[in-house]
Amino acid sequence: DQYCVIMAGGIGSRFWPMSTQKFPKQFQDILGVGRTMIQQTYDRIRKIVPDENIFVITNKEYVSLSHQQLPEIPEQNIVGEPLAKNTAACNLYMANKIAEINPDAQMIVLPADHLILREEVFLEKASLAFEIASKNDYLITLGITPTRPDTGYGYIQFVDKKGSEYFKIKTFTEKPILEIAKSFLESGDFLWNAGIFVWSVKSILSAFDKYLPEMTQQFMACEYNADGEEGCIELIYPKLQKISIDNGILEKAKNVYVIPSDLGWSDLGTWTSVYENTEKDENQNAVKQKHVLTYHSSGNIVHIKNSNKAVVIDGLKDYIVVDTDKVLMICPREHDQLIKDYVLDLKNLK
Ligand code: GDD
Ligand code: MG
Repeated sequence: DQYCVIMAGGIGSRFWPMSTQKFPKQFQDILGVGRTMIQQTYDRIRKIVPDENIFVITNKEYVSLSHQQLPEIPEQNIVGEPLAKNTAACNLYMANKIAEINPDAQMIVLPADHLILREEVFLEKASLAFEIASKNDYLITLGITPTRPDTGYGYIQFVDKKGSEYFKIKTFTEKPILEIAKSFLESGDFLWNAGIFVWSVKSILSAFDKYLPEMTQQFMACEYNADGEEGCIELIYPKLQKISIDNGILEKAKNVYVIPSDLGWSDLGTWTSVYENTEKDENQNAVKQKHVLTYHSSGNIVHIKNSNKAVVIDGLKDYIVVDTDKVLMICPREHDQLIKDYVLDLKNLK
């Protein structure tokens, strides 16, 4: 059987100040299309996975928000975590949960905040991945042809076998530094990891056992715990290692395969990616609101929340300008990976 896990526990801090801890970007309609990012994720996958097999794993703070936005999914399938421990923990939690229902299941893991323009390609590649995962002990990821040396992604080098639809991975490098990302891009035999994974629960559980044995043990302890699932999760979570599935498993495992997938994909994780996916005026400014006037300015993305506020911008090039009730942020577009540091620094000020 085919299952789906939507990961929706991030706070999207690189997309601050529009994305905040109270209201992260996956629950917002970032591009103004009428559905939030998590709703669009659900709309796509429900075409090949039935509602009762779709799970959402998120922080417990966002469980009710998830219910509201996805009323079709059974209530018990929306699972809350007591703490944000990054994506290894939530994957192990959900693989264990699905294995209890069906030990022979395959699962697709989806980030809740991606733009996919070619839905039919996504469905075709996801179905192919499910089929491969049902027959092989493979960890499968969808790969995207890179267009810039972005340091926010995982890079996959693969063994090319001409004519095949999927390839064995040679190396997996999560979030390389700029020089390395540049060399990967130039070499031409790398793909971006789209962060969309397909595997059987058996394969992923045995990979956890091999590469994150301590975490596996910590979850195993729950089987014998009298406090029930929730009590046990509360107990073990503070002690779990905070690590991504990419660093924890995919960089290390030997049985990772990639399906190159031309999805029209974008991780709407940064202001630059939103800039690239927003309509621009003749000066390449992405400005939606009429009350924002720009002169001698180009390449900016401007987002002003309060629609009564008039804004004039003159002589600004390639900047991000965001104004919300609480925050004004002005930063060069090329610094968009630093935004999460601004958030940390502000937290420390308080
Ligand atoms: N439940 C839960 N708990 N979800 C989480 C947690 C957590 O602690 N942390 C992050 N998530 C969710 C996010 O909401 C997002 O949907 C997804 O997991 C991926 O997390 P990100 O924080 O957005 O990861 P990333 O963008 O830095 O990197 C990943 O995605 C890239 C592509 O967008 C990696 O897989 C990269 O290799 C990949 O290139
Ligand atoms: Mg992301």
